[in-house]
Amino acid sequence: MPASKSVTGTALSPENSVLTDLFDRTISYLRLSLTDRCNLKCLYCVPEEGGLPKLEQEDLLSYEELLRVVRAAVSMGMTKLRLTGGEPLVRRNVMDFVNQLAAIKQLRDIRITTNGVLLSRYAEDLRAAGISKINISLDSLQPERFARITGADCFAQVWQGIEKARSVGFAPVKLNMVVMRGVNDDELADFARLSRDTELHVRFIEFMPIGASSRWSKDTYVSSDEIKARLYDLGELIPVHRSETDGPASMFRLGAEAKGKLGFISPLSHHFCDRCNRLRLTSEGMLRACLLHDAETDLRAVLRRGCTDEEIRETLLAAVRSKPQGHRMEERLREQEGGCHGRMSRIGG
Ligand code: 5AD
Repeated sequence: MPASKSVTGTALSPENSVLTDLFDRTISYLRLSLTDRCNLKCLYCVPEEGGLPKLEQEDLLSYEELLRVVRAAVSMGMTKLRLTGGEPLVRRNVMDFVNQLAAIKQLRDIRITTNGVLLSRYAEDLRAAGISKINISLDSLQPERFARITGADCFAQVWQGIEKARSVGFAPVKLNMVVMRGVNDDELADFARLSRDTELHVRFIEFMPIGASSRWSKDTYVSSDEIKARLYDLGELIPVHRSETDGPASMFRLGAEAKGKLGFISPLSHHFCDRCNRLRLTSEGMLRACLLHDAETDLRAVLRRGCTDEEIRETLLAAVRSKPQGHRMEERLREQEGGCHGRMSRIGG
């Protein structure tokens, strides 16, 4: 790659054409939010007064634009990609896009995070396309409560999707549960048992003050340490060596015989910023270097003024170079600065 004068002030040369940030982290994992739309209205995503403004179709990056970005990112060493939303499976012709992504040779690992509602319909095609892993957001195992949290009475449909994903060969299938006091924290043991009695992996995620909802509070937040303490009576949590696929979760088995694994994702209580390897692209084409930091780089504007691939690479590099060393969410909360303003439905978690 020849050195060139940059539109973003970051000159690309062969030496810095890989995505390394200012703190020596190599960024190899891109998360793409395909749409801000979702077929659920989870209480932590949607404002209490209801309704989220929706992006217009032309505000979203087109599949062609997304493919250009992914190819550029892959040419700089990005190897892992996750599709998120909103709900990625509600975007029109999503399988055509997935198949085109899968044809990008150096992209070794494509994953998806979904709410599972459409999964029985898509699981087989996703598997055939070569998607390697599926994460399913599931905050309750009780159908009525699921309906209350998500605004949709479709627990059975999601469960069918989970079964379907397993039956077509996705392994492990991971369930993400956002733990909220007074909402679903009485189900911790049920979720933990699921990871013991089935091959499902369950990950408890600490509730983060981010997004359109103001429902986060110190009272609804439950730390991973508290969750572990509350599982004490269920049996021993045996640490499992973190595998490459575990991401930021610390992983355990609930007893030596457990079939699945139990994970704790602790963005607030145990930062994992020092090993963060992620870059996010929001559904409207903003590069976001840190989930919990509102700074974004407008890649869509660069794309739409008719840029070269080189300029895409420069913009990716500039975004990576702007990645903060770590988030300072606790400090912000202490100083009453509040949570993040970015909407989860656009950022994709
Ligand atoms: N705090 C923690 N996790 C969240 N998610 C969405 N909003 C929040 C929040 N405020 C989760 C979703 C999904 C993952 C991508 O992020 O449930 O599983």
